[in-house]
Amino acid sequence: MIKQRVQDALNEQINAEIYSSYMYYSMAAWFDSISLEGFAHWLRVQALEELTHVQKITGYLTERGGRAVMKAVDGPPTDWQSPLACFEEVYAHECKVTELINNLMDVALEERDHATVSFLKWFVDEQIEEESNTDTAVQKLKLVEGNKGGLFMLDREMDARTFVMPPELVGVF
Ligand code: FEO
Repeated sequence: MIKQRVQDALNEQINAEIYSSYMYYSMAAWFDSISLEGFAHWLRVQALEELTHVQKITGYLTERGGRAVMKAVDGPPTDWQSPLACFEEVYAHECKVTELINNLMDVALEERDHATVSFLKWFVDEQIEEESNTDTAVQKLKLVEGNKGGLFMLDREMDARTFVMPPELVGVF
């Protein structure tokens, strides 16, 4: 049976992942409102991925005899100054999530919960990709700053992202 402290920390992370999904959906709606549908699409895929993170943790808690408990979710921002400002926020948010995962790992280590340490390793690795992908988007947006043609090309590139359901979650959703 999973210890209460680890369970509580994992439930906090579920809330953070749901907030991430909610925020990315809000950003997608903002991009749609300024007719940059490729960026909106990229963010909707990101929002879906965040929900798979929620399900990974929920499933793990159940497997360990614990319980996922949903809490109130904060409202995300709804407007941004520019596509670059929005993606700078995406990148900063993912860095914050990395911190949360590291804190969660510290709790699991302190409680000598090796199963949770092993489970969290996937999230540690995932955050490398999350930071890298969002930083790349920031750098590309900086390159096209003030160049509308470049921005539209980048929008098309962002539209090519596809959502891939993690194999272990096929049939869960
Ligand atoms: Fe669930 Fe973007 O980290």
